[in-house]
Amino acid sequence: MRMVDLIVKKQQGKELSKEEIRFVIEGFTDGTIPDYQMSAFAMAVYFQDMTDNERMEMTMAMAESGDQIDLSDIEGIKVDKHSTGGVGDTTTLVLAPLVASTGVPVAKMSGRGLGHTGGTIDKLESVPGFHVEISEEKFMELVNENKVAVVGQSGDLTPADKKLYALRDVTGTVNSLPLIASSIMSKKIASGADAIVLDVKVGAGAFMKTPEDAENLAHAMVSIGNLAGRKTMAIISDMSQPLGRAVGNALEVEEAIETLKGNGPEDLEELCLELGSQMVYLGGGAESLEAAKTLLKEKLTNGEALEKFKVFLSAQDGNPDVVDNYALMPQASFTKEVLATETGYVTEITADDIGVAAMKLGAGRATKESVIDLAAGLILHKKVGDFVEKGESIVTLYANTEKTAEAEEMVQQAYHYGENRVEPTLVHKIITE
Ligand code: URA
Ligand code: CA
Repeated sequence: MRMVDLIVKKQQGKELSKEEIRFVIEGFTDGTIPDYQMSAFAMAVYFQDMTDNERMEMTMAMAESGDQIDLSDIEGIKVDKHSTGGVGDTTTLVLAPLVASTGVPVAKMSGRGLGHTGGTIDKLESVPGFHVEISEEKFMELVNENKVAVVGQSGDLTPADKKLYALRDVTGTVNSLPLIASSIMSKKIASGADAIVLDVKVGAGAFMKTPEDAENLAHAMVSIGNLAGRKTMAIISDMSQPLGRAVGNALEVEEAIETLKGNGPEDLEELCLELGSQMVYLGGGAESLEAAKTLLKEKLTNGEALEKFKVFLSAQDGNPDVVDNYALMPQASFTKEVLATETGYVTEITADDIGVAAMKLGAGRATKESVIDLAAGLILHKKVGDFVEKGESIVTLYANTEKTAEAEEMVQQAYHYGENRVEPTLVHKIITE
């Protein structure tokens, strides 16, 4: 096989076989296929697309390009959830204990990564004592015992995707549906997921700008998952504003606890119930999505989800008393109110700008070396559909520095006002096949 022939074959819009796709991905991973040929291949895919089978083979080849996590020592169906770029997305913190409280195992491997706020691990480290430095053995043991545990990601997962993503970034081929879908799915499959729930965000601040694009991506990923033998479902959810009210690490843990107590922001609770229903259903914990939702509502009301959160924290040496005393978590020394510059209805809150504001306050990492300020972040008091008077507080900033001007400016940039009230839609669509 010669790479040049496969580039031409794809350029002509023909379907590549499993062996041909393996040849491309394996050769690119081990360096026998140079970047310039892979770039041409990516561009051919960009223009010619891939069939469902090609996408699945591409995904599997990338999933198998490096280490793969074996979760077979954990009893039950392991369901993983993936969100395409939420800002201040507190769902994982809520879903882990909530889903576990139904008996469906949640084996969460998480990275730290760069971003507006920390990753799930950083957020949880706001709880005094909590840590993820546990052995793989201990991790499996905890999941079997409590149905939930979180561990830091180790090993070299999907090196083919890492290399290809870097190449796409500089060759104008990031925005290709088959390449995005296979990239995301390869990571989930390499992480050991038996079933996958996807939260595809749509809106100005999201990767997918239109509901149509988001739906196409969701269908592509659901199809890959199902062809690869991993039951997959997706939700298309709104990103015309951040989810919930808190953006930051300790602030999001607090918001998650409030949600587990049944007092969370409506949109956060609703999305958690939707995503959680799919997780519980795919995990075999309920006969239907409706039954799963009823069960989850029960777990929020009867306190079992909250209790599960305490058990989960304690098992990894975290102080469970935070649940009743938020002051045990890092606290910011300064707060600053951001005031509305106009009177009217909030029509949009650009999530990206809010994320950057949180990062400027210290909540996220700009580079791998950045140190996160767990106390930093912001709380949104006004959301889409709310009426505000000029001069009213729309957001409170939390920081350990008085230099909040840049963050304040980003918040002002994020808020859009209008004369007419718009009703936010949270869940645009549920895709089950
Ligand atoms: N996120 C990914 O992991 N991969 C892509 O290609 C795009 C977004
Ligand atoms: Ca939030």
